Amino acid sequence: MLTVRELTNYGEEYLKQHKIEEPSQNALILLSLTLKRGSTFLKVFSDYMVSEKDRQNFLSILEKKAKGEPIAHITGEQEFLGHIFIVDKNVLIPRPETEGLVEETLRLLKGKAPNRILDLCTGSGCIACSLSLLYQNAEVVGSDVSQKSLNTAIKNAENLNVAERIKFIKSNLFSKLEGKFDLIISNPPYIPTADISKLQKEVLQEPRKALDGGKDGILYIKKIINSAPEFLNSEGMIAMEIGYQQSEAVSKLFKKELWQEVVVKKDIFGVDRYIFAELK
Ligand SMILES: C[S@@+](CC[C@H](N)C(=O)[O-])C[C@H]1O[C@@H](n2cnc3c(N)ncnc32)[C@H](O)[C@@H]1O
Repeated sequence: MLTVRELTNYGEEYLKQHKIEEPSQNALILLSLTLKRGSTFLKVFSDYMVSEKDRQNFLSILEKKAKGEPIAHITGEQEFLGHIFIVDKNVLIPRPETEGLVEETLRLLKGKAPNRILDLCTGSGCIACSLSLLYQNAEVVGSDVSQKSLNTAIKNAENLNVAERIKFIKSNLFSKLEGKFDLIISNPPYIPTADISKLQKEVLQEPRKALDGGKDGILYIKKIINSAPEFLNSEGMIAMEIGYQQSEAVSKLFKKELWQEVVVKKDIFGVDRYIFAELK
């Protein structure tokens, strides 16, 4: 049997050889997942003897990680705003940047609860479910062009007991949507096509449909801003996550005669990442 220290050292070396970033931190996370113990436990009890079965499980997880499989795909789940979401190959893994989108939206709503919310491009349903948990009286619609994504979103809504309050609709952007909303929130695909091949190999394991925002990255953002006025109540808000260096181009897409002031906010990494506007 080997100790925790010996296995994390082995894991670090193995991941380093396979050119995985932050090998030491990743080896610790993977052993912590294998043993179902927090990383503090592993650091404090580094002489803890690991059973043969756990050693083999750790080696098999290490192998998956070295092949570029994201940790969320290995565990099948990801935390988002304090709730656990199922993730699989059909959905984008929820990101901390997107937690920021929801948090900034809540700040800008200043306590005004929206009655009808649309989460356009819902993916795993992380935004729709989180908002439904926060606004228990709101009617929430989550839409996506991919039925496979929607199936995962439905499972997440069931697990979080919000399935009865969210309607999931398969729709190419607004094509199958009806009625008006007080809030349209969206994290659409926004990576320029040419940049996709430069992404880390882990990101490339995620659905291309969730990433590719066309030649300049703002193909969907443009379409959403153009159609949103038809689907928003007066003084309704649009809240969107956008790509690196897109804020200037996207701000210009809001026609002054239709929209009130456009607000851009930064993410936790200091990058302009969110754009908001209220309809007149
Ligand atoms: C960046 S992911 C966001 C997923 C999730 N909302 C999140 O924040 O983790 C974009 C999503 O848009 C969906 N999508 C791509 N093209 C679409 C379209 N034309 N209409 C609706 N949804 C689309 C993808 O299937 C994917 O689930």
